[in-house]
Amino acid sequence: MPNQIVLKNVTKRYGERTILDEVSLDIDGGETVALIGPSGGGKSTLLRCINGLTPFDAGEIRVGPDVLPAGGNGEVASRVRRKFGMIFQDFQLFPHLTAAENVMEAPIQVLRKSRREAREQAMELLRRVGLEDRGGAYPRQLSGGQKQRVAIARALAMEPRGLLCDEIASALDPELKSEVLDTLAELKAEGLTLIVVTHEIGFARRAADRVAVLADGRVIEHGPPQQVLENPQVERTQRFLRQVLV
Ligand SMILES: Nc1ncnc2c1ncn2[C@@H]1O[C@H](COP(=O)(O)OP(=O)(O)O)[C@@H](O)[C@H]1O
Ligand SMILES: [Mg+2]
Repeated sequence: MPNQIVLKNVTKRYGERTILDEVSLDIDGGETVALIGPSGGGKSTLLRCINGLTPFDAGEIRVGPDVLPAGGNGEVASRVRRKFGMIFQDFQLFPHLTAAENVMEAPIQVLRKSRREAREQAMELLRRVGLEDRGGAYPRQLSGGQKQRVAIARALAMEPRGLLCDEIASALDPELKSEVLDTLAELKAEGLTLIVVTHEIGFARRAADRVAVLADGRVIEHGPPQQVLENPQVERTQRFLRQVLV
């Protein structure tokens, strides 16, 4: 499967502390997995390991055809990053570039597209995320929800097979949250593999094929949303859900 992700016994330590403890998880091509769990449980670290941004200490991660080994491999990591984009809570747009230029940057620099081709693609992607009239705006002139949709368009410009989303709606007001989450639901419908770290339990229930709960560096429970969210088997999951649902 070109867009499957398979983690086998992935272990990550920072100094003496074990941050990911033999995490194993299979994510099918086209599947949407909501990754939930208490703060500090290792969710961001896990996404960074999958994306090759952070090397891990033991185990193996297969992303499509590429196998990331323990200890890291820069060449494999950059191949993975071309195919599986990561989007962050704080957007990380280039402030000195317009929305369209932000979207054009990687296709020009990495894929060696012409400016003209990159611009046409950028306008098409901005249309897809509902921002066709904002291409000339700088990030400071955009709302949080618009900035996050530019960040999504920028990730899509690499024609990814999947996206890793780290709390991308957390900083947004409720109606802007739903703009961004609706955009994700559309990408799922188009067949992208999505791993979505989220505290939006409603989104997880509606859009995820599967929910995985990460706590203290372990996947303590995973399964279909109705099972994990409505009828969790593990006490730690029950406690976490009580906390986020208040
Ligand atoms: N670069 C780092 N150096 C040392 N410890 C880190 C680093 N990044 C994360 N951690 C620690 O790893 C643990 C998991 O963090 P993180 O993956 O950010 O959790 P989550 O995203 O679930 O809140 C936390 O205890 C955090 O302090
Ligand atoms: Mg995090």
